Amino acid sequence: MAQRKGRRLLLVPLPLQGHINPMLQLAQILYTKGFSITIIHPSFNSPNPSNYPHFNFSCIEDEFVLTESSDLLSFLIELNAKCVEPFKECVGKLLQSDDAWEEPVACLISDAICHFTQGVAHSLQLPRLVLRTSGVSSFVAFAAYPLFRQRGYIPTQDCKLEEEVEELPPLRVKDLPLVKTEEPEKYYELLHNFVKETKGSLGVIWNSFEELESPALTKLGKEFSIPMFPIGPFHKYFPSSSSSSSLISQDQTSITWLDTHKHNSVVYVSFGSLAAMTETEFLEIAWGLANSKHPFLCVVRPGLIKGSEWLEALPSGFVENLEGRGLFVKWAPQLEVLAHSAVGAFWTHNGWNSTMESICEGVPMICMPFFTDQKVNARYVSHVWRVGLQLDERIERGEIERSIRRLMDPNVEGKEIRDRALKLKEEAKICLQQGGSSSSSLEDLLTYILSFTFETS
Ligand code: UDX
Repeated sequence: MAQRKGRRLLLVPLPLQGHINPMLQLAQILYTKGFSITIIHPSFNSPNPSNYPHFNFSCIEDEFVLTESSDLLSFLIELNAKCVEPFKECVGKLLQSDDAWEEPVACLISDAICHFTQGVAHSLQLPRLVLRTSGVSSFVAFAAYPLFRQRGYIPTQDCKLEEEVEELPPLRVKDLPLVKTEEPEKYYELLHNFVKETKGSLGVIWNSFEELESPALTKLGKEFSIPMFPIGPFHKYFPSSSSSSSLISQDQTSITWLDTHKHNSVVYVSFGSLAAMTETEFLEIAWGLANSKHPFLCVVRPGLIKGSEWLEALPSGFVENLEGRGLFVKWAPQLEVLAHSAVGAFWTHNGWNSTMESICEGVPMICMPFFTDQKVNARYVSHVWRVGLQLDERIERGEIERSIRRLMDPNVEGKEIRDRALKLKEEAKICLQQGGSSSSSLEDLLTYILSFTFETS
């Protein structure tokens, strides 16, 4: 643990699992480097303060929730509109409190999607850095939306989905980071705001590393005249069993079950915290897994299957007929699962955390993106880093079975993918070692933060 720096950082996570995890990991990294930490969060999806007794937590009251029936886009727009005043009040109080005199605030670090924090920080003259929790390559695609509209790639037309996006190879039109919405203009506006206020920040922190996304970092560095700090992979700064920011309790039987399986024999399946599918799609997945004859550990988060509580869609006797070859859980300790030697492949939606976590353990991926950055990530996994296969959009049991076999049965293609995944794992490890790219970038970030001179008025 580094000597205390006598400076406090105010961190603002977006209250969704895939954003809370990296923000709290970043908080932990900066704490071990000597900064004191205050997490400012809405009451919705509040992190559990008792897991982090060394941080301060400040809750801003809110009235919004994200339920199975509400949509993500409206949630994000509402959050950005409704948080402004309570956030301003909360930060104002923190800056005037006695603690602020003992440990002056150095800066605010906000999730990029909480773009409302820029206006507040500006009005208080508080230095603001941004954490972009997704990859750099997908951010480049978000930032290019005006161009995509100009060129007519979006709004997308079915007949053009396979077309290459000349400006951002190897993306095709269907890989652009879109969401299904009746109100695309609202989505473009959200993107515009979050890109603009990222550009308006004093720098961007990435949960990525130079060797993985060097072309995107260079491209963005030219477009944005602010410093970039690729200091990831965040979760590898600590042992995987260290304090968890999971909002759902993680089923530890996943690990005892994996303990009974051979090296590289199990397919781990999880689609993160937001994706949802129909019962029919889920049945194709279940049959594809069963027919592949490979053991599998499948996370079925309550809410994953539209209209179902949990596994009711499965025909009676389905689980028994697997004879122990498959385990369904509601939520798994994913970091430990991916690090387990029994896991041989990860069938994922390619949320950025899952993608990085898989890369760090050298686990090849079967990619099935649902929306936004997941589509870009999946394309990079399968066609740039070439550490996985991408499934067709139509979820179909035959294709699932064939894809699992392509990765898991002994064959040249599967071996080549696995070898590349192991090589990438090594690079992810080296960048955190002393003198490695992420380790050096973290040192630069610390110096940069300490250079801010902010005084409360
Ligand atoms: C969301 C977006 O969907 C994603 O596109 C974006 O990149 C980040 O925000 P989410 O869908 O939840 O994230 O996916 P992901 O980024 O993979 O984050 C999920 C997190 O939950 C990971 O850190 C993973 O380790 C954890 N997890 C997942 C568990 O702890 N247990 C599980 O069973 C499944």
